[in-house]
Formats: sequence, C-alpha cells, structure tokens
Amino acid sequence: MPRLGPSILAPLETLFDTKRGNVLPLPPNLARLYGCLRMPQQRSRPHVFSNFVATLDGVVSLNAIGHASGADISGHSAQDRMVMGLLRAIADVVIVGSGTLGADPRHVWTAEAIFPELADEYRRLSKAMGKREPPLNVIVSGNGEIDLRLPVFASGKVPALIITTTAGAKRLRTQSAPDSVDIRATRGSASTIPANAILDEVCQVSPGKLILVEGGPRLLGNFYAERLVDEQFLTLAPQIAGRDAGDGRLGLVMGKTFAPSDPLWGTLIDLRRGSSHLFLRYSFPESWPAS
Ligand SMILES: NC(=O)c1ccc[n+]([C@@H]2O[C@H](COP(=O)([O-])OP(=O)(O)OC[C@H]3O[C@@H](n4cnc5c(N)ncnc54)[C@H](OP(=O)(O)O)[C@@H]3O)[C@@H](O)[C@H]2O)c1
Repeated sequence: MPRLGPSILAPLETLFDTKRGNVLPLPPNLARLYGCLRMPQQRSRPHVFSNFVATLDGVVSLNAIGHASGADISGHSAQDRMVMGLLRAIADVVIVGSGTLGADPRHVWTAEAIFPELADEYRRLSKAMGKREPPLNVIVSGNGEIDLRLPVFASGKVPALIITTTAGAKRLRTQSAPDSVDIRATRGSASTIPANAILDEVCQVSPGKLILVEGGPRLLGNFYAERLVDEQFLTLAPQIAGRDAGDGRLGLVMGKTFAPSDPLWGTLIDLRRGSSHLFLRYSFPESWPAS
C-alpha cells in the first residue's frame, strides 16, 4: 500500500459532537485532520476506552491467513490509521490480547508505528499532555505462549508488560526476558484473567489514567462483561465482508453474550465522516465501584 502523507489526507468532517470533557492540545496538523478531541476530566480511577474498526456487517477480523488484520477491515484507510495513532498518542497504556499480537507479531502499539507520517505531531501531543515515554504496551495471555523476541518486547521502543496466569508466567520465565519487559502473574488458577485484575496490575505499573483497549474481541468481551469500558471508538468501514458457518470471522465481542438478558446500550457522543467511513464514539454507563 502506498503511504499517504498528512498533507494529502482529507480532514474528517465532524457531524455530531457533544462537547463534553476537556479539549486536548492537538498540534495544528492533527487538529486540522481530526478536529477537536475531548476526553473526560481526570478522575481518580482510570478511563478505559476501546478502538476498533468493523465492516458494515459487523466483522472485525476475516481470520484468514494474510488477511487477519484491521487493515483488511478498514480497506487500509489512512484516516483510520490517523485516528488510531491519535488515540495511542493520548493513551498512557495500550492493552491487547495475545491473539491480536499473533495477528501482527512485528507491531508495537505506538502512534508512530501505525501512522509514521504524523510521528512528530503525535509526539508533540503526548509531550503537551505530560507523557515522557510511549504508552505501556500490555499483552494479556492465559497460557503464556508468547515469543519474547518479538519487537514489542525486544526492540526497546516501548515499555512492555505481560499479564498472565501463574502457569503462563512459569512458561514465560523459561525464556530470557529483555529488561524493558515486566511479567506479572495474577492470582487464581483460572486461565481467563478477570478484566479488573488486568486493570489492577496495569495500575500498579503505570500511574497514567488513560487506558486504551485495542482488543481483540475476546479481551474486549471480558472488559464489557465486567462493565469496565467507558467509551467505544468504532470506525465503520463501508464494506460487507459476509460470514459462513465455521469461517471463524469475528465480531467486536467474542466469548461473551449480553442481549437479550443483559443488553449493553451505549450513547452516541461523537460522529465524524471520512469519505464513506464513519468514525463513531459511544459512551457506556459508568459501573465502576465508586472511588
Ligand atoms: N478490527 C479491529 O479493530 C481489530 C482490533 C483488534 C484485533 N483484531 C483482530 O482480532 C483477531 C484476534 O482476535 P482474538 O479475539 O483472538 O484476540 P485477543 O483478544 O487479542 O486474543 C485472545 C487471546 O488473548 C488472551 N486473552 C484475552 N483475554 C484474556 C483474559 N481475560 N485472560 C487471559 N487471557 C486472555 C488469550 O490468550 P492465550 O491463548 O495466550 O491464553 C486469548 O486466547 C485478529 O485477527 C486481530 O487482527 C481486529
């Protein structure tokens, strides 16, 4: 795919904006491309936001060899990458599951890695928000079958934290871990780690309050099940991917069901348009324990 420089990238058109929260100090080029970005006022507890891209028929992964990435869903949209970079630039922490790492094993979860054309602007934004290093990259794995030679751990570009089970940590410690990697085992013997335990571990390592969950669908399902997602950013890509029985195509949430017995309804708080892509932002009711 040819790289599309920021100067020829069209700005998003803001169609709806509730004007809630603090305006973030976007440098001029980013402000031109995205418009105004607001985030809720700092609170004592973390603000958890997720960002995904889905097709019109709700597919987030084609789950096919060579075509399992978000780029296959967005159609390699430069505007989607610009927004991904923006959300990573404001995040203190980015959390992904081992399946998302497996789909893109050479990736590191920084703004620059997803949209290098705006690296300087992203850096200026992060700095203006008081951040001194790239977001903590958190990988969640129950079984700990992760290769510590991958760039997210071995490149030194990001601080990295692996959250796993006791058995997973034991398996991981058979490899030599680079200095920039912290491995933490949660208590309990279950292979699925509760999302609140993931957040507890994250908060012990990072004082930052803006936590971006980039998925995938199984990890996100755990966060929704425990009502720990405050906001969902969702790019709607104008394609119909289709599904067939047993093709393994994934929706936004996998491994958990909510409707009809326990439906989760969000509120639209922002809507932007980039050509035929829609950039949606929903908030979900607060259900965190009072702090
Ligand atoms: N369209 C988008 O915006 C988007 C965004 C993200 C990902 N994706 C796509 O989604 C696909 C991957 O989907 P996925 O559902 O497999 O991804 P995932 O949630 O990243 O990975 C699932 C794996 O992560 C670990 N995991 C997740 N939650 C856990 C928990 N609470 N406790 C312990 N371990 C946990 C488990 O690892 P172990 O098996 O190691 O125990 C589990 O098998 C890829 O194709 C990726 O490209 C798309």
